[in-house]
Amino acid sequence: MCGIVGYIGDKNCVPILINGLKRLEYRGYDSAGLGVIINHECRVVKNKGQVALLEKKLEEVSLSGNLGIGHTRWATHGVPNEINAHPHFNSSKNLLVIHNGIIENYQTLKAGLQKFGYKFISDTDSEVIPHLIDSFLIKGHSLFKSVQLALSEVEGTYGLIVIYDEEPDRMIAARKGSPLVLGIGDKENFVASDVSAILAHTKQIVYLEDGEVVEVFKDHFIAKTVLDKEIEKEVHEITMTLDEIDKGGFAHFMLKEIMEQPESICNSMRGRLLLDKGTSKLGGLESVADRLASSSRIIISACGTSWHAGLVGEYMLEQFTRIPTEVEYASEFRYRNPVVNKDDAIFFISQSGETADTLAALREAKDKGALVLGICNAVGSSIARESIAGVYTHAGPEIGVASTKAFTSQLVVLALITLLIARKKNMSLVDGKSIAEELKTIPDKISKILKLNDTIEEIAAEFKDVKNFLYLGRGYNFPVALEGALKLKEISYIHAEGYPAAEMKHGPIALIDENMPAVFIAPKDSTYEKIISNIEEIKARKGRIIAIASENDDKIDNLVDYSIKIPDTIRMLMPILTVIPLQLLAYHIAVKKGLNVDQPRNLAKSVTVE
Ligand code: AGP
Ligand code: GLU
Repeated sequence: MCGIVGYIGDKNCVPILINGLKRLEYRGYDSAGLGVIINHECRVVKNKGQVALLEKKLEEVSLSGNLGIGHTRWATHGVPNEINAHPHFNSSKNLLVIHNGIIENYQTLKAGLQKFGYKFISDTDSEVIPHLIDSFLIKGHSLFKSVQLALSEVEGTYGLIVIYDEEPDRMIAARKGSPLVLGIGDKENFVASDVSAILAHTKQIVYLEDGEVVEVFKDHFIAKTVLDKEIEKEVHEITMTLDEIDKGGFAHFMLKEIMEQPESICNSMRGRLLLDKGTSKLGGLESVADRLASSSRIIISACGTSWHAGLVGEYMLEQFTRIPTEVEYASEFRYRNPVVNKDDAIFFISQSGETADTLAALREAKDKGALVLGICNAVGSSIARESIAGVYTHAGPEIGVASTKAFTSQLVVLALITLLIARKKNMSLVDGKSIAEELKTIPDKISKILKLNDTIEEIAAEFKDVKNFLYLGRGYNFPVALEGALKLKEISYIHAEGYPAAEMKHGPIALIDENMPAVFIAPKDSTYEKIISNIEEIKARKGRIIAIASENDDKIDNLVDYSIKIPDTIRMLMPILTVIPLQLLAYHIAVKKGLNVDQPRNLAKSVTVE
C-alpha cells in the first residue's frame, strides 16, 4: 500500500510533491522518491526510509521542475532499499513510473521482456511497467496508447503515474484496485492516492474508477478506459478539511484499519487462491512446501495478537493436516531450552517483523536446525529476512497500536497455509474447493458485519463504566475470546479475561455478579448447545451478557441482554468474522471513555525490547 502523487503546472513541483508525500506517509514509509522532468530529461532522487530523509537529501541536490511524481513505498516485492524505491525507469531512462499495488503476473512479463533484452535492476514487481510501456513506445505508439496497451497485459492491481521526457506536457494516470484521484487546479493539475495529498491546493476532485486511464495536462485532462472508450468524468467539490482526512475521514487509525478489513483480506488472498485446484499458491513457501508437508510437528511462536492468530492456526492445522501443532509464546520458547527437532517446522508470526522476543526465538530455533518460517506484514523486516522462507500477510501498514487488520490477515494466511499442506496430504479436491470458495466470500461477510457499527456503539455506551469483563468462546472461538479481551485491555484499560467457555465453571464463574458482564462468542456450530448452557449458567448468576451469534439464531435473544448477529461460515474461518464485532466493541468503549485509542498508555506498536 504505497502513496503516490503527481503535479503538472507552472510552479516548482518539488515542495508540492514532498508535502503530498508527507500526507501519504500513513500508507507506507519504507522508502520515498521523486521523479521530475527538466529540459526534456528525467531526474530521480530517492532514498530508503521516511519522506523526511528524502527531504534532507534534496537539500544537497538541486531539483526543480513543472512536472513531477512522488512515491512513498510500503514494500510488497523486494526489500526496502534505494534500488527498489520508486520511481522506476525504463532502460533508456527517459520514462518514469510510480506504482501502488501488486502486478501478479510480473514474473511472466519480466521473463518475456528479458528475452527482448530489457534489463531489470530492482526486485520489485513494479519495474515491469516502465519496460512494458517502453516496448510499445519503441513501436511508435504515443505514451497514452503505450500505457493502455501495457495495462491490458497486466494482471493485478495498480494506481500509477507515468511521465515521459518526449511528452513533457502531460502525465498519464491509471487505476485498477488501488485508489487514485485527480485534483483540478487553476492552470495546474494533480494526481494522488487520496485527497489528503493535494487538498492544500484544490478541492475540485475527480475520482478515478477501475479500468480508467487519464491523460493529464496542466489545463485539461482526457479520460478513457484501458480499451480506449471515452468517458465523461464528474468534478466533485469536496468540503473536507486537512485535519479530517489524514485518517481517511475516520476519527482514529484503529477505526480506519477495522473498516479496511474487507480490502486488506482481499489483498492477503490476491493471486493466492487456486479455486479450481482447491488449494493455495504461496510463492514464498514453494521451495519448502514438501518439507513442510512431511514435518512431524509444527510449532507456531509469536507474541500478543499474533500469538492469538497462532492459536487459531493450531486448530486449523491439526484439523486438516493432522500434523501435531503447538503454539508457544516467543518469550517462553526462547528461554526454556525447547526441544526442537530437525524435521519440525516453526512459524514465527509477527505484524511488525521486528518484535524482539519473536526474533530471538527465531534465531534460537534456527540455531537448532529447524525449518524457520515467517508470517510477517512488514516486508523486509528482520523476521522476514532471517526466516528460511515465509509468507507476507499484505494487510498494508497498520498504525493503530491495537492490532486489527493484521490479525485477520494472519488468519487468512494461516488458512491458505493449511489448505496448501492439507491438499498435499489427505484433503480431497472437493473439500479443498469448498474451503477455497468459502474464503472468497469472507470479505463480503466482513462488510456486512461492519454495517453493525452503530449498534455496537450503542452497546458500548451501556458497558463503558464496568471495571471487569469476561470473554468466553469454545473451539476456534476460544482464541477470539482471548483477542477480544486483549483489545479491551489495551485501549480501554478495563480488566478483561478470555477463557474457553467450558473452563468458566472451574473457577472464573466465582467472579460473576451483576457487575461482571460476559461476552459470549456463540455462533451456531457443533459446540452451540454447550455454549448455550454456559450462557444459562451466567444468567442464573445475574451476569449481563453480550453474544456474538449467527444471523439465523432467534433463540439466543431470549437468553442474552444484547446480541450481535453475524453471517455464518465454516468453523475454521469463523474467527475472521467473530473478531470484528469485538474490535469495534473495544474501540467504542475506549472512545466513550475519552482515551487515546491509537496510542494507548504504556504500549508501543513494535516491541523491540525483550
Ligand atoms: C496487539 O494489539 C498488540 N499491540 C500486541 O500484542 C502485538 O500483537 C504484539 O506486540 C506482537 O507484535 P508483532 O505482531 O508486531 O510481532
Ligand atoms: N508492489 C510495489 C512494490 O513493492 C508497490 C507496493 C504497494 O503498493 O504496496 O514496490
